Amino acid sequence: MGSRYRIGIGSDLIAADGTSLVEAAQRELLAPVPGLVVETFGAPRATLAPADIVGFDAVVTLWQNVREETLAGSERLATIARWGVGIDMIDVDACTRHDVLLSVTRDAVRRPVAEAILTSVLVLAKNVLGNDRLVREGGWDDKRPNLGLRGKVIGTIGVGNIGAELVGLLRPLGLARVLASDPFVTAEDADRLGVELTDLDTLLREADYVCVNCPLTRDTRHLLGARELALMKPTAYLVNTARGPIVDEEALVAALTEKRIAGAALDVFEHEPLPAGSPLSTLENVVLSPHSIAWTDELFSLNGSGACENALAVLRGEIPAHVVNREVIEQPGFQAKLAHLRAQWSEAN
Ligand SMILES: NC(=O)c1ccc[n+]([C@@H]2O[C@H](COP(=O)([O-])OP(=O)(O)OC[C@H]3O[C@@H](n4cnc5c(N)ncnc54)[C@H](O)[C@@H]3O)[C@@H](O)[C@H]2O)c1
Repeated sequence: MGSRYRIGIGSDLIAADGTSLVEAAQRELLAPVPGLVVETFGAPRATLAPADIVGFDAVVTLWQNVREETLAGSERLATIARWGVGIDMIDVDACTRHDVLLSVTRDAVRRPVAEAILTSVLVLAKNVLGNDRLVREGGWDDKRPNLGLRGKVIGTIGVGNIGAELVGLLRPLGLARVLASDPFVTAEDADRLGVELTDLDTLLREADYVCVNCPLTRDTRHLLGARELALMKPTAYLVNTARGPIVDEEALVAALTEKRIAGAALDVFEHEPLPAGSPLSTLENVVLSPHSIAWTDELFSLNGSGACENALAVLRGEIPAHVVNREVIEQPGFQAKLAHLRAQWSEAN
């Protein structure tokens, strides 16, 4: 068989040292497929250009934007497989309009991000960074008691894939309550998950640790602004591993500086990389990580295999596990792409 299928691997998946984030998956899943051509595409620019994706049946991407203009001339493209789950960099409606199925790797991020949030809560409760500083800076005798988690209240804004996993990890800790605010979760879901469903204001007023686990959308941009942060207790902490712009960073800096909340652990920021000179980097009640606290061996391995498997499923003429724009599936334009790919696959295998 000739090289009928073409999968593009985004250049944003190639690290500075040349290693590919999907190397193992490429070797184990893609290389054995007869006639499959795998190529790296595009320059690591903010938004993909039409020329980057032209001629591919499937592309795997990490952080590059996909906009309406990216998809001009995408007649052949059947699917975009995101390495990860955040889709704020992708115009989902444009994908649907262009008969392109968008998939994500929910299984890969669920546990690593939930572990990262639990780590952040513990690092804040035990003042790990402050204690480290005391020892290094000769402040041994200034040590103070840390906080226990038993009897405390944790709130999760969003209780989907990652939020629900976090709730499971919290179960053995003997918390007083786990609160969740999520407009798309029913009372039955909440019962099954073992969370108390509340509105956002109640969660902010009552939680000792507020964890952000919703996606960045038009509706959630600055969901936590000055008004919302003012509802939090002065002893409460904020953990944001979801997306920076969900929190109004200026309002957060003010709340942290004036000690209106106790502290924060932030993996994500309004502007990434965090600009040099950001007040966040001088505040002692903040723990920072460069959008990487969830990066684990497990996350890298499962994101790579998950994204490549999602792309391959479409090449086989099948629907992958985690589709974002399910409405595309029944569209005649997408069905035609799928039927063509399915026919090619059965001819070749
Ligand atoms: N830091 C990282 O490396 C990292 C890694 C993976 C994911 N993330 C972020 O985590 C987010 C969540 O991932 P997920 O897999 O759990 O997604 P998910 O879609 O399974 O869950 C998100 C939940 O948020 C809820 N939600 C939507 N709008 C809301 C609102 N206004 N208020 C409260 N809840 C709302 C949804 O109903 C859903 O239940 C992703 O969108 C991504 O931005 C970050």
